[in-house]
Amino acid sequence: MPNTKEFDNTVNIGIESSPLDLPVITGTYDEKGIDISKLLAKTGHVTLDIGFKNTGSTTSTITYIDGDKGVLEHRGYRIEDLASEASFLEVCFLLLKEHLPKRAELDEFVGSVQDYITPPAGIKAILDAMPDDTHPMGMLSAIFASLSGFYPESLDSWTSEEVRWRTIYRLLGHMPGICAYIHRRKANLEYIDPNPSLGYVENFLYMMSGKVDPVVADALDTLLILHADHEQNCSASTVRFVGSSQVNLFASISAGNSALWGPLHGGANQAVLEMLEAIKNDGGDTDKYLDKAKDKNDPFRLMGFGHRVYKNHDPRAKVIKRYADVVLDKLEVEDPVLSIAKGLERAALNDPYFSDRKLFPNVDFYSGIIYRALGIPVDMFTVMFALGRLPGWIAQWKEMREGNEPIGRPRQIYTGHDTRPYIPIGDR
Ligand code: CMC
Repeated sequence: MPNTKEFDNTVNIGIESSPLDLPVITGTYDEKGIDISKLLAKTGHVTLDIGFKNTGSTTSTITYIDGDKGVLEHRGYRIEDLASEASFLEVCFLLLKEHLPKRAELDEFVGSVQDYITPPAGIKAILDAMPDDTHPMGMLSAIFASLSGFYPESLDSWTSEEVRWRTIYRLLGHMPGICAYIHRRKANLEYIDPNPSLGYVENFLYMMSGKVDPVVADALDTLLILHADHEQNCSASTVRFVGSSQVNLFASISAGNSALWGPLHGGANQAVLEMLEAIKNDGGDTDKYLDKAKDKNDPFRLMGFGHRVYKNHDPRAKVIKRYADVVLDKLEVEDPVLSIAKGLERAALNDPYFSDRKLFPNVDFYSGIIYRALGIPVDMFTVMFALGRLPGWIAQWKEMREGNEPIGRPRQIYTGHDTRPYIPIGDR
């Protein structure tokens, strides 16, 4: 059971020699947060924490991470157990409905998602109108935002629980088709419509390629679970932040998806594979790239390494690494970049630069190698991340709205010019 003890303690800080008591909130695992919501009113001071390295933006019951121990849990269930035992839609249910479903509950949930497996036909026309070299993540953000046009009732979905859930089911149901359409559009292939007799992941594979390999479907299901939520990361925070203006769910998800696209976040999976390919084409000299990553005058970073929260092994990366061997084996794929990745990881973990800074492989380090073995093109990797992360974004949005959180609006410390007279353009 969540065990949030509200404000059972205070800390005393001194500001300009005046003592001030601030309440402390304690989480389920005894993590402590100082509540500064009255700080400005009481002291005239704000806090400054660029990049939010020390700032909790909310309380949440969805996901717990212990970055020092390498622990990840959703609603109290360990990611390793979910990855090996549950299905992706079961994890979606868990994130959105807060408990593991009984069989009948899961069947009903799956049915509600399946009701919406066919995206609106107009989406194909929107994709067709986009330039050929549009990045798939740009396409996906545009499509998410366009859904509010196809479903105007979503504009005020918060007013009715029925419309809210219909909007959620539509989003989950349409997502595999949207992602597959994006792939087919990029590859200049005919669109394949969904097959209602197939399951969620099988249908996605069918719409991608016209065929379903059970080994591939099983692998993909696990990968999606591993990506399903990760508490207040850049994209989830964006979904909550944008959604706090009370804009509709589709627009909030579109914004979160754009945050995911960046190479420091979900875009890292594409960047990792491009980096491994570059190392391979450069003769496989991993030391050269480690040196580049350590050189402070070189902007190069070891992609797929490091994490804001994990200062130990990312538990998702551990599962994915094991999985990469199994999947490549089962599919009888030999990929030379897998051994480059393993060599790079070994060398980095033995290098004081990385160990001193507690930089370990993250979820993106090995995922791309599996996606490639499954036949998914590199520029679609971050779309695959979004396919997995969608339930987490929706759960974060829902929790934020249910908690009636105020609009996100940080303060700043202004460091620009002080007041000066306007000079007409001819006199400057
Ligand atoms: N390669 C080389 N040096 C690194 C790396 C890296 N990948 N990551 C961090 N560092 C160094 C950094 O230069 C800094 O060194 P110093 O203390 O000497 O200045 C130190 O480690 C701390 O790094 P930071 O940038 O302050 O840490 P952060 O918490 O702001 O950044 C990160 C976290 C994930 C953005 C960063 O580790 C990174 O850029 N990694 C590569 C991109 C990547 O793999 N992103 C995926 C993250 S996990 C999945 C997801 O979020 O989607």
